[in-house]
Amino acid sequence: YVIGVDLGTSAVKLLLVNKQGEVVQEVSKEYPLIQEKTGYSEQKPEDWVEQTVAGLRELIGEFDGNPEEIEGLSFSGQMHGLVLLDENREVVRNAILWNDTRTTEQCQEIYDKVGKNKFIEITKNLALEGFTLPKILWVKENEPDLFAKASTFVLPKDYVRYRLSGAIHMDYSDAAGTSLLDVANKSWSKEICDDLGLDVSLCPPLVDSHKNVGKITSEIVEATGLSSETNVFAGGADNACGAIGSGILSEGKTFASIGTSGVVLSYEPTGDKDYQGKVHYFNHGEQDAYYAMGVTLAAGHSLNWFKKTFAEEQSFDELLAGVGDVPPGANGLLFTPYIAGERTPHADSQIRSSFIGMDSSHTLKDFARSVLEGITFSLNESIAIFRENGKQIDTIYSIGGGAKNTDWLQMQADIFNANIVKQKSEQGPGMGAAMLAAYGSGWFSSLKECADTLLEDAETYQPIPENVEKYQRLFALYKQVYQ
Ligand code: XUL
Repeated sequence: YVIGVDLGTSAVKLLLVNKQGEVVQEVSKEYPLIQEKTGYSEQKPEDWVEQTVAGLRELIGEFDGNPEEIEGLSFSGQMHGLVLLDENREVVRNAILWNDTRTTEQCQEIYDKVGKNKFIEITKNLALEGFTLPKILWVKENEPDLFAKASTFVLPKDYVRYRLSGAIHMDYSDAAGTSLLDVANKSWSKEICDDLGLDVSLCPPLVDSHKNVGKITSEIVEATGLSSETNVFAGGADNACGAIGSGILSEGKTFASIGTSGVVLSYEPTGDKDYQGKVHYFNHGEQDAYYAMGVTLAAGHSLNWFKKTFAEEQSFDELLAGVGDVPPGANGLLFTPYIAGERTPHADSQIRSSFIGMDSSHTLKDFARSVLEGITFSLNESIAIFRENGKQIDTIYSIGGGAKNTDWLQMQADIFNANIVKQKSEQGPGMGAAMLAAYGSGWFSSLKECADTLLEDAETYQPIPENVEKYQRLFALYKQVYQ
């Protein structure tokens, strides 16, 4: 057995997985978000550790096998969150998370001091509020006393891994989201640190995601009931682990994930493709591989907001029942999902949403369909960038909440003009983390072999030509709304 620990934004989810890839046990433990001001989003690293340890204890308590059969564990983590540690490895302040937007000024400062072209050339990404570097600069400028104490920084799951194993590391897939990594050369950028007056020694040692970093500590053995022989593998960013968990491990493989945010992610075999920062370009959890990725900030979040505001008494199933009967185009209604700003392709935290074309004949169903369509159009903007840059995308794996509704799956096939595949048992990033532990434990000769053995496709939705044509016209209109 292996354990995948998925450290998310609202909860940590733990999966106990056997050698057939079956999830034999699952535990989830929540922790709060701290939002002191508009745009602020923080968490207490101690909450992550407490809930992970409590989750492991529960998992082992319910396990009817011998804990010694559990060979190792690994991690998937919410990306970009800043955890500053002092020289005694004590946390200096709350973690500032990926969805915190206080750092617009620091993003500009990065371009001013490093130069935008040079910055994109090294990090392969734009300077965005959500990424780690602008958060480091924010603390340096706004909380100099705290910053003076900091001797290293890590990302959320790195902190939990440190507390479980006693060793400090960061893996390349998560380091890629800090804006301090020379992504193609897999090393910290001393040049960016120098330009911004940061000491490169703040950056922790880098490792590959499947690397064994040691065994769990005796305290953790005692607190959880795990065996002292349990190996700890580095793990990866949640998007990299989501990619591993859905088999995105060769050229042309792509997924569309619709959760709170939406992500379209496509495998890249090398570090040298140049999207000029239009999409994210990060190191994969597979050694020396990469992926390109576009993000819709409010995907499921838009649908949640819509339901809460206009149909609170209905369940999601009730709200979405019948959207398949509304024709493509929602009878002339068009929604843009910018309720929290937008990342790809606009990188604009200030833009806000709209419904366009409201008519007195429109019903709640038309609105619900237009919300689903708007979210899907937004994801299609990322797919369009991939295709404009020569990527062939004819099959897309659909994962997350957006893969649960058959009308939405067909809509994705029609709007993306691609076959949409759903996996038999989709476990997302937690499965990717478990697969890193399985590969690291030597169960397979490669992650790809691991995916071929453990993952299975279930259904395919094919694009309907008439709908594709209609959506191509509507997509052209959708793109004009932002302008
Ligand atoms: C990716 C991003 C989010 C977080 C969510 O750039 O910010 O997907 O990883 O956990």
